[in-house]
Amino acid sequence: MKTYVVGGAVRDELLGLPVQDRDHVVVGATPEEMVDIGYKPVGQDFPVFLHPQTREEYALARTERKSGRGYKGFTVFASPEVTLEEDLRRRDLTINAMARDESGNLIDPYNGQRDLEAKVLRHVSEAFAEDPVRILRVARFAARFADFNIAPETMELMRGMVNAGEVDELVPERVWQEISRGLMEKRPSRMFLVLRECGALKKLLPEVDKLFGVPQPPEYHPEIDTGLHVMLVLDWAAQQLFSLPVRFAALTHDLGKGATPQELWPKHIGHEAKSVELVRMLSERIRVPADCRDLAIAVARDHGNVHRALELRSGTVVELFERVDAFRRPERFMEFLRACECDFHGRPGYESRPFPEINYLQQALALAQGVDAGEVAKRVDPARIKEAVFQARAEAIAAWRQREG
Ligand code: CTP
Repeated sequence: MKTYVVGGAVRDELLGLPVQDRDHVVVGATPEEMVDIGYKPVGQDFPVFLHPQTREEYALARTERKSGRGYKGFTVFASPEVTLEEDLRRRDLTINAMARDESGNLIDPYNGQRDLEAKVLRHVSEAFAEDPVRILRVARFAARFADFNIAPETMELMRGMVNAGEVDELVPERVWQEISRGLMEKRPSRMFLVLRECGALKKLLPEVDKLFGVPQPPEYHPEIDTGLHVMLVLDWAAQQLFSLPVRFAALTHDLGKGATPQELWPKHIGHEAKSVELVRMLSERIRVPADCRDLAIAVARDHGNVHRALELRSGTVVELFERVDAFRRPERFMEFLRACECDFHGRPGYESRPFPEINYLQQALALAQGVDAGEVAKRVDPARIKEAVFQARAEAIAAWRQREG
C-alpha cells in the first residue's frame, strides 16, 4: 500500500501558497485493510477514510464512470488494482492532477507543473465532461488565479457540455456553493465571464447573463454596458475584501435593468422594483441563504436613494432607515452602505472619487439613533408615539443639516 498527497495541496505548495487541507490517495489497499490499520471510513458515495491521528482524508484510488446525466450519475470503481495515474486521470484540471509520494517526489503524468508555469487551466482528459460541477470549478479557479487563461480546448469542451444540457442537471445547492465560493475569490468577475463564454451563465443565472449588451446613460456610466458595470462593482467589492452578502448584493443590485424594454434604453426608470423581484426569484431558485438574499433585496430596492441621499428630505432619510431596519440592525446597515459604495466606485474613473453620501447617512443615522424614544413617548398620547418618534428623528437630522449648511 502506498499513499500520496494529491490535488489542491500539491498545486498550492508549488505556487508557494499556504496549504489548507491535504488530500491523500491510497493505492493498493482494500477498504477492509484501511479499517484494520485504524482508518475511519467517512465516504458515503466514495471509499474515503480519515487518518486516526491527523484526521486528514485518505481516498482509495478510484476511477469513475458516467452512468447517467448530471451530477449524481456516477459509478465509482475502487480496487487495489487502480493505479495512481488512473486516479489522477479522472480529475478535473492538470494543475489539480499532480501527486507527491512519501519521499517528496512529484508525480505529474499530465504536465500540471508545465500548465502551472504557463498559467493555463486545462482539463486532464475527456473524463472532465463526466461532472458538470467542473464547469463551475473552472470558472471559480479563473476568479482565484486571475492571471490564468483557460485552454481553448477546455473552453470548447465546456461549451459542448453546456449544449448537451449537462448544467441543467446541477442541483441548486451545488450551484450556490460554487458561486458563493467564486464570489469570495480575488477577481469574481472572471467566474461570470467564463460562465458566460461557455454558455453556462445563461442557464444558471439568466438574470445576470441578460445584463450584458444592455446600455446605461453614459453620463453616469462611462462603461455603458450594464453587465460590465456589475463586473466592475463586484471586483471593487472583492478588492475591499467585503463580505459574501455585500458581494452577492453587488452582483444583483441592477438585475432589473435586464428587464427594461429596449425602446426605453439607455434609461431604466423603476429598475429597482424589478431588481427586487428578480433577486427574490433567483434566490429562491438556487437557495441563496437569507442573510445574502435580504441584503441584496435592500440594496436592489434602495441603492438609488443612497446615491441621492444628499437631496432627500430628512423624513425620507428616516423612512430609508426604517425600510432597511437600520435602527435594529446598524451593522447590517453598514453592509448595505458598503454594497452601495461598490455600485458607485464600479465605474471607470470613479474608483477613487469621493462618495460623501456614505458618511452623510452614517452621521444621520447616529443622530436619529440619539433620539430618546422613551422621552418622546412620555410627551405624547400613546396612539401617536410612533409618529412622534419618527418626527423627532427627522427633526434631529434636519437641525443638523441646517447647522452644517
Ligand atoms: N476534483 C475533481 N473534480 C471535482 C472535484 C474535485 O477532479 N468535481 C479533484 C481535483 O483533483 C481536486 C481534488 O479533487 O484538486 C480535491 O477537490 P477539492 O478539495 O474540492 O478542491 P481543491 O483543488 O483542493 O481546491 P480548493 O483549494 O478550492 O479546495
